[in-house]
Formats: sequence, structure tokens, C-alpha cells
Amino acid sequence: MKAVVLEQQGSLEGLKYVPDFPDPVVKQGHVVIRVKAASFNYHDVFTVRGMPGIKVPLPMIIGLDMAGEIIEIGPGVDGWQIGNRVLVNPLNLERGLMGEMMHGGLAEKCLVAQHQLIRIPDGVTYEDAASLPVAYGTAHRMLITHKTVKPGDQVLVLGASGGVGTGCVILAKMLGATVIACASSADKLKRLKELGADEVINYKEVDFSRWAVEKYGKPQRRSYEGGVDVLINFTGGDTWQPSLRCVKRGGKILVCGATAGYDPKEDLRYIWSFELQIIGSNSFYDDNLQALMQFIEQGRMKPVVDKVLPLDRAVEGLRMIENREVFGKIVVTP
Ligand SMILES: NC(=O)c1ccc[n+]([C@@H]2O[C@H](COP(=O)([O-])OP(=O)(O)OC[C@H]3O[C@@H](n4cnc5c(N)ncnc54)[C@H](OP(=O)(O)O)[C@@H]3O)[C@@H](O)[C@H]2O)c1
Repeated sequence: MKAVVLEQQGSLEGLKYVPDFPDPVVKQGHVVIRVKAASFNYHDVFTVRGMPGIKVPLPMIIGLDMAGEIIEIGPGVDGWQIGNRVLVNPLNLERGLMGEMMHGGLAEKCLVAQHQLIRIPDGVTYEDAASLPVAYGTAHRMLITHKTVKPGDQVLVLGASGGVGTGCVILAKMLGATVIACASSADKLKRLKELGADEVINYKEVDFSRWAVEKYGKPQRRSYEGGVDVLINFTGGDTWQPSLRCVKRGGKILVCGATAGYDPKEDLRYIWSFELQIIGSNSFYDDNLQALMQFIEQGRMKPVVDKVLPLDRAVEGLRMIENREVFGKIVVTP
């Protein structure tokens, strides 16, 4: 089968389009799906570069997110039939993440354990379903499962143009918040406005922290009332300290990642003085993905898909993510 295979970690040069990778062989408790759509996440960039503490067995077909049709069923699998449309939860409970510890979705076919299968409702396309798990599922858990945002809150989203970011903008608006979306280009800001953001900030040109204090904090900042209610930060690095400075007393900082660095300079004084709540969130469960597919079916939301690429051009999509050129998600249709 055709597949996008990581042969050597370090850079995108180690990622190859292979026209004749061996097909997966069905086994006990598993099915084989024909992958109809897969999507990239920043996590795939980390997998390609290599992450401390994670040893990826090579060669590895990358890609965490995928949706497809069941074409083979192994012994011991109940309740599923050939032809069923399925979204795959990328976490395999025995071996770890798809596309990292076992072959992922950037291929024509994929072996998947039964416990990872989630039925796709009729009104949801493969492309939309495959956009959801890692990015939108994580946003759903961070905002909705953890009940972190309420109507009327001011929610500032850093990295709002990406997968998790667009998910946070959409869901925070659904929850009745005022959304301040930060991104690095005029085009991204325009698209964030179209997506529903109330305010947009180009944080390459404007200090977002100062902006938020001036807009929502003056003159009360010193009396602790100023700042935003919720700040979403999965960028880390040098965005961390400014984030601490623009959240109001008792406000929340939601964290699910650290694209720009996981050990930023800290300033504990802001955490105690302003009684900040730092709330971590990790991944998603089937109920997050089922809820999101229901939203799509009900016409309440649609994941933002920037580009749909064929498998032989998939690496281009990951390069766009690495270069911060993407708005929303890149989908690949093997
Ligand atoms: N814990 C979990 O379960 C979980 C789940 C999903 C994602 N994550 C993490 O969350 C982060 C975002 O993931 P994603 O898939 O949404 O990524 P993405 O689609 O690439 O979006 C990330 C956005 O962050 C912005 N950004 C700011 N500084 C950046 C930098 N130094 N390098 C790259 N982008 C930067 C970019 O927008 P601008 O150019 O506009 O600034 C980009 O659009 C990643 O760190 C990922 O590992 C964690």
C-alpha cells in the first residue's frame, strides 16, 4: 500500500512517500480500515523531530488522526461490520499513540484495535471526523469537560489559528464567551474574525498582555479586578510570563501543550497575588469526540480545514504546519 513513512528522525527529510509498504495483517481484537481521511497535528512535527523520552520504533507510518471504512475484521471483534464508517481514537491502550508507537493514518490502510473505534454519524464527513481527535477533542475536554469557561467570560487564546486554537475559538463562542484571538499574520486575523472571534491581536506586533490589561484591566489592575477571565496557552516559551500578567484575580490559565518550550521562565508572585488557577488538560476521550460529531451533525459547528492534500503531497502539509502557515487543519485523503 501507499504510505508516508518516517525512516529517520530529525527533520522532514526523514519522511518518505513509499508506494509499496506492506499491508497491515488483521489480528485478534483488531480491524483493518481503509483510511478515507487523516489529519496532521503539531504532534506529528514533534514525532518527526524527536521528543525527549519518547523512542519511536522506525520505520513508522505517521499520523494520529484518521477516519475510514472497516474492510477486514479479526477474530474476537463484536458489534462491527465491514463497511462501517469509523473515527479512530488515536490512543491504543496497549501500545500508545498511533503514528508514534504503532502505524498511523498516513496510509491507504491501518490496523486498529476494537476499543479505538467510534461510529461516525451519517451527517459527518470523513474529512470533518478526521479533523477532530487530537486538536478539537483536546479543546473540548479543556473547555467543556473541565467546565472552565462560562457565558460572558473574556477568553484570550494564544495560537488561535492552529488546530487546538480554532477549536478553542469555536467552542468558547458556543459557550457564550467573548473571544480574543491572537495570531501572527493579518490573513490569520481576518480568518479568525470570520470564525467568530470578537477581538483579534497580531502578537508579533502588539504585546498581547499589555493590550489585555489596557482593554480589560484599567484602572482596576492594581485592585485585582482587571485582566481576562481565562487565557489559553499551549505555546509556553516566552509567552508564559506575559500570560501570568494579564489574567484577573481568580482567573484561569488553561494549558495543554508547549509548542515554543516546556520550561519557560516562571514568576510565582503572579500566581499567588492574583490567586490564578493553572489548569492542565491532556488529550480527550471517546465522549469528547462523540459530542463534537454531534455538534457537526446538528449544524452547530464545523472544523476548520485549510487544505485537503493527496497522500503523495502530504509532506507539504506538515511543512506548512512547521512553518506556521496553516489556518485550522490539514487533511490528507489517502
Ligand atoms: N496535551 C495534549 O493532549 C495536546 C493535544 C493537542 C495539542 N497539544 C499541543 O498543543 C500545541 C498546538 O497543537 P496544534 O496541533 O493545534 O498545532 P498547530 O495547529 O500547529 O497550531 C499551533 C499554533 O501556535 C502558534 N505558534 C505560536 N508560537 C509558535 C511556535 N513557536 N511554533 C509553532 N507555532 C507557534 C501558531 O500560530 P501563529 O503563527 O499564528 O502564532 C500555530 O498556528 C502543540 O504544542 C501540541 O503538542 C497537546
